[in-house]
Amino acid sequence: MSLPGDKSISHRYAMLTSIATGDSKIYNFATGADCHSTLACMRELGVGHEFAEQDGRRVLIVHGRGLNGLTAPKQDLDAGNSGSTIRMLSGILAAQPFNTTIAGDDSLARRPMARIIKPLSAMGAQIDARNGQYPPLAITGTALRAIDYEMPVASAQVKSCVLLAGLYANGETIVRESTATRDHTEIALAELGADITLESRVVKIRSGAELAGKSLMVPGDISSAAFFLVAALLVADSDLMVTNVGLNPTRTALLDFLRSVGADIKLLLIEQANGELIGNLQIRTSKIGGGTIEGTTTAALIDEIPALAVLGAVSKDGLTVRNASELRVKETDRIATIAENLHRMGITIETTEDGFSIPGRQKFHAADLDSCGDHRIAMAFAVAALAADGPCRIQNAEAASVSYPEFFDVLRGLAR
Ligand code: S3P
Repeated sequence: MSLPGDKSISHRYAMLTSIATGDSKIYNFATGADCHSTLACMRELGVGHEFAEQDGRRVLIVHGRGLNGLTAPKQDLDAGNSGSTIRMLSGILAAQPFNTTIAGDDSLARRPMARIIKPLSAMGAQIDARNGQYPPLAITGTALRAIDYEMPVASAQVKSCVLLAGLYANGETIVRESTATRDHTEIALAELGADITLESRVVKIRSGAELAGKSLMVPGDISSAAFFLVAALLVADSDLMVTNVGLNPTRTALLDFLRSVGADIKLLLIEQANGELIGNLQIRTSKIGGGTIEGTTTAALIDEIPALAVLGAVSKDGLTVRNASELRVKETDRIATIAENLHRMGITIETTEDGFSIPGRQKFHAADLDSCGDHRIAMAFAVAALAADGPCRIQNAEAASVSYPEFFDVLRGLAR
């Protein structure tokens, strides 16, 4: 099977090609609603785009307007359900010679924005947020100055926001991370010609260099693959090949973890596209031991924890997750929504403020489940349903389309 384009990389390509000079062609752009929210925001800022068919492949053409070519929006920007859109785009908006308000859906309206408001304010940005920290954000565009920023949370969205603001700031902007997070922004900025350097978790960017539009290929989304990898591990006699998966080392902690608990995963055929690694994965049903996810590993596979929780319940020794307070501020409070759905299936789980523990060797029972509007919860529990002793109903399953509209069709297609 193949996967839709990586969500994280698609957001970045949509934003960066919009402020690059000239047209860009983006192959395998993510199909989910989140990345289309980013495209809609860019259109509202004056950047045209269209999808075309080329040699049987779908390609997104973005008509980049250059670093200073964005225009004032006629209405508020709508980031939908997408934290990546609002957090990363705010770094660009803060530096524009016009004002913008950016908002989103009810889930986004509850997500913390102080983490970007703080560094952007230190750069001179003027941002008003609801109750000082929630969307909508009213951003008064202004000239920015460079900062040297030590990241207080492990967040690629925050890092990216500061780097994008750094494209416009006067001087050299520096971001220092103690925990490595996904580095797609740094790679894409270098690829398009920004003045950027990366050395052991210190990123430096200088304003001034024009970005140049180009052809870009988005690798398949490893975070979407996670649901199928777990499904293959727990459904008897599975042998699944997933092609063209993004294998950027800041995203492959999932594979390391799965291998460490006994998964039979082979990595085949690795190549590079636009600075990102791409390869094929072959995975077979395996006996899974169990383990603990904690420390820097938690940050490295934070999006895959809903899928891993499902695997944990049927593993031999269970799964413990620690240092995962970030799960509480995702599209839903994922510690709560994982626990609620596992309980409904008769699975024992003990939660803590920043994690949970699931004993192994448990059996999933048929139940009525609820994604609570969270795409990764919808997909994780569709996988749990495969292992249940009867049919399950998932309320709000359509939330999957936030990152993976084709998910249920693909799952159906894999059934024998
Ligand atoms: C993302 C970073 C992570 C991740 C999210 C996408 C990105 O969020 O959970 O799904 O594209 O940079 P944080 O930056 O909040 O950790």
